[in-house]
Amino acid sequence: MVGGMRSHPRFDFRRVDALRDQAQDRAGYFAADEARDRVVCGRSLACARPTRLAECGAHDPTPSPYAVLDDLLGGLEFDEHSRLLDVGCGTGRVLAYYVAAGLPGRAVGVELDLDLAVVAAAWSVRYPQLSVHAGNVLDLPLADFTHLYLFNPFDTAVLEHLLDKLHAEAVHPVMLVHMSDNGETYSYWGRVGWRLLREGSIQQVSTAAATFDIYDAPQHYSIWLFEPGHGGRSGS
Ligand SMILES: C[S@@+](CC[C@H](N)C(=O)[O-])C[C@H]1O[C@@H](n2cnc3c(N)ncnc32)[C@H](O)[C@@H]1O
Repeated sequence: MVGGMRSHPRFDFRRVDALRDQAQDRAGYFAADEARDRVVCGRSLACARPTRLAECGAHDPTPSPYAVLDDLLGGLEFDEHSRLLDVGCGTGRVLAYYVAAGLPGRAVGVELDLDLAVVAAAWSVRYPQLSVHAGNVLDLPLADFTHLYLFNPFDTAVLEHLLDKLHAEAVHPVMLVHMSDNGETYSYWGRVGWRLLREGSIQQVSTAAATFDIYDAPQHYSIWLFEPGHGGRSGS
């Protein structure tokens, strides 16, 4: 279960926090997240339509709730050299969290759906620590990144390609957070250089008013440290 949310003093979230505290159900909670979007981005980042790119293995462009991001990313170490890649950034909720929480370093979003990438690029241009690439993460050089975040972006076959690519290109240790319906930890086990740091599942949130489900089914997450420099793809 997730709860609170850290915030940078440059933003006034008092009205947003009050909305979230009063939320008694998923709709009210997501409305508070959209209010937080408006403070940071000047627009809502909600996106209810299904993906148009299922034939490429892409999943629906559902944004991560802020409190989930705070639970999964807020406890990780970031400094001015950190480079976070949100793999499949949609309209940019993770980038909005990054600036709202005042995390140091830079955050980059990559998004296959051009319409969504255009939205993320348009609002994020006001923050020099953010940038957005329209395209396939499998075409993006990965060597710069110290942190990767994946919230249910695509099918397992694409994930396997991404992990092979990271193995070939990473030069720094990489902290990777993955969350999806079934967690897909089977794609990580057996790969050399990977260490599981934390895992669990998220379905409920608590506000001052109530505790309720934000997902129809538990979302399983795992947080991994990948240390490059190992020879083969698998341990076998
Ligand atoms: C569930 S959404 C996650 C949105 C965002 N990361 C968040 O947590 O708020 C998954 C996104 O991944 C995108 N995606 C799927 N395959 C991709 C690929 N190969 N390269 C880049 N983005 C991809 C989808 O278009 C979709 O917008």
